[in-house]
Amino acid sequence: MVTVSAPGKVHLIGEHSVVYGEPAIIAAIDKRCFVNATKNADLIVKTPEAESIYDINEVTYFVNELRNLWHKCADKKDFSEMFETMKEDPFNLVKATVGEVLMDLNIDEGADIEIRSDIPVGAGLGSSAALAVSVVKAMTILYDKELSRDEINDITFSIEKYMHGTPSGGDNTTCCYGGLVWFQKTMQGNVIKNLDISKLENFFLVYVSRPEKSTGELVQQVRELEESYRQPRISDIGRATHDMLDALTTNDTKKIRECINIAQKNLSELGVSLPIIDDICKAVRGIGGAAKLCGAGGGGTVLCYHEDRLKLLEAISDLGFSATETVLGDEGVRVDSK
Ligand code: MEV
Repeated sequence: MVTVSAPGKVHLIGEHSVVYGEPAIIAAIDKRCFVNATKNADLIVKTPEAESIYDINEVTYFVNELRNLWHKCADKKDFSEMFETMKEDPFNLVKATVGEVLMDLNIDEGADIEIRSDIPVGAGLGSSAALAVSVVKAMTILYDKELSRDEINDITFSIEKYMHGTPSGGDNTTCCYGGLVWFQKTMQGNVIKNLDISKLENFFLVYVSRPEKSTGELVQQVRELEESYRQPRISDIGRATHDMLDALTTNDTKKIRECINIAQKNLSELGVSLPIIDDICKAVRGIGGAAKLCGAGGGGTVLCYHEDRLKLLEAISDLGFSATETVLGDEGVRVDSK
């Protein structure tokens, strides 16, 4: 048996704008997805709540269907059909991941995959990317395929496309490499830099609610806005992301706060916030901190930054929520045992 784990992630800044070519700063967090895998003729998927078994021909057939469907949706610029397909079975993400690995690496056996994740689903913390990265890595170890981190990341990106339509690739990259990542999609390929910033303290996560819409649906919703409305806001987050890099490097706490608050203002105007998220962010700003939604938004988690821990915890508790300090820059995908 092999045990592999990958971290969740949090965008310090740059979600949504990263889809349009702006940079994002994304940190791997200290919540992980663990996968135990053993060889098996079929694909068996187990979580603490459920278990299913699939013939591997069914699994590879499913991936062929997804590949065709993705192109059809891309032509229509509408991924709704893809999102509906992925929602039909809660294990479709694992099925797609294993199928993609079997097809890419010419493996003709399945696996028994047991999943335990600390990363809440739909919280903007990269649960799907962490699961896909860990399953890809586990399969490669199980079937003695020596893949580089880049290759694992590339396979995982295909899965993220089935899940989210036109993702940036930032989530899977961070869950794969870990650390604090500067990620940017360019015409020449992805720019991926590990930011060597040691002092990343005073960041807290506040879980609000499970979003009604998926990441893919929210990305599509933003894409459907008038370009003349969307683009200035995307560019503004882009500028704040460059400023955030300077601020983190020099530990300029005032500037860190400003950048986070600029991002939240723009994300809210792009329609991916919620009244309760705006209220939390306003309250945190009111006590001299900064806060923004995480990931696609529509609910999920709020990232708060405040140098006075107690002041922040009290303000969040007054609103009926709780805040947990988060470790930023955790280790990427790793083999825990084999
Ligand atoms: C989702 O975690 C982050 C988004 O920017 C989408 C993406 O980058 O693919 C909303």
